Amino acid sequence: MKTLVMANQKGGVGKTATVFGLATDFRARGLRVVVIDVDTQGNVSFTFDANKSGILASSLFASTEQTFELTDDFTLIEADEALTDLNKISIEEAYRAFSASIRRIEEMGYDVCLIDTAPSLGVGLISVLLSADYVISPIELEVYSIKGIEKMLTIITHIREANSKLKFLGMLPNKVDHRNPRHERHYEELKKAYPDLLIPCCIGLRSSVSEALASGVPVWDNPKTSARVAAKEFRDLADYVYQKMELAA
Ligand SMILES: Nc1ncnc2c1ncn2[C@@H]1O[C@H](COP(=O)(O)OP(=O)(O)OP(=O)(O)O)[C@@H](O)[C@H]1O
Ligand SMILES: [Mg+2]
Repeated sequence: MKTLVMANQKGGVGKTATVFGLATDFRARGLRVVVIDVDTQGNVSFTFDANKSGILASSLFASTEQTFELTDDFTLIEADEALTDLNKISIEEAYRAFSASIRRIEEMGYDVCLIDTAPSLGVGLISVLLSADYVISPIELEVYSIKGIEKMLTIITHIREANSKLKFLGMLPNKVDHRNPRHERHYEELKKAYPDLLIPCCIGLRSSVSEALASGVPVWDNPKTSARVAAKEFRDLADYVYQKMELAA
């Protein structure tokens, strides 16, 4: 099993949208998928409400002796209020328990585990990154988002000193408006500043993405033209990530 985390301490950049897009695509490819929501906002838990496993995300950080069972081929470990208490325990303790939980999920024969995280640099995000195989940082092509990404990249570099298996798949430009010259300029600047750290895919600013998150229905099941374009963008992203993570059904 491979684990992929969506991480950016900046809010609203598309972490949850990316988890949703990849999870629905990987499910359609026949992969056995677990989604873990480590964000008390519970956004991905809302979107995948129908797929709740009954296991609460905070329990994954509570003990190294995990005995929970997951059975569905596509399942959600939902966010719960107790995640707010994670900052009361040490990173070491949280990391040990979470890693044990990931091993438990792997034993149950899942192919991929997608983890949505909160826009804050707490024990939750750090311990998840310490346990994971891959990380993507969605970003917006706006100044605050670009300024904030440097901090995230530094954190990922530090984490990789402790977790050498962690691979940064790159920054994913999201909510891109190709008619907006500012976005085009920022994209070119980012490409120049971080030539190896940009995923060669973009997700456009499209209302069909918000509609998909609100309804839980994948973009490709929405007949609108804008949804067809969004579906193609997410498919291209999923192809890229599938290949980079060496996934196979
Ligand atoms: N490509 C897009 N086009 C249009 N709207 C989008 C797109 N991606 C995300 N959104 C919308 O922008 C908002 C923020 O997106 P999302 O929730 O995925 O960000 P996030 O990084 O998970 O935020 P948070 O840090 O609060 O968890 C949501 O309302 C979502 O529907
Ligand atoms: Mg989110």
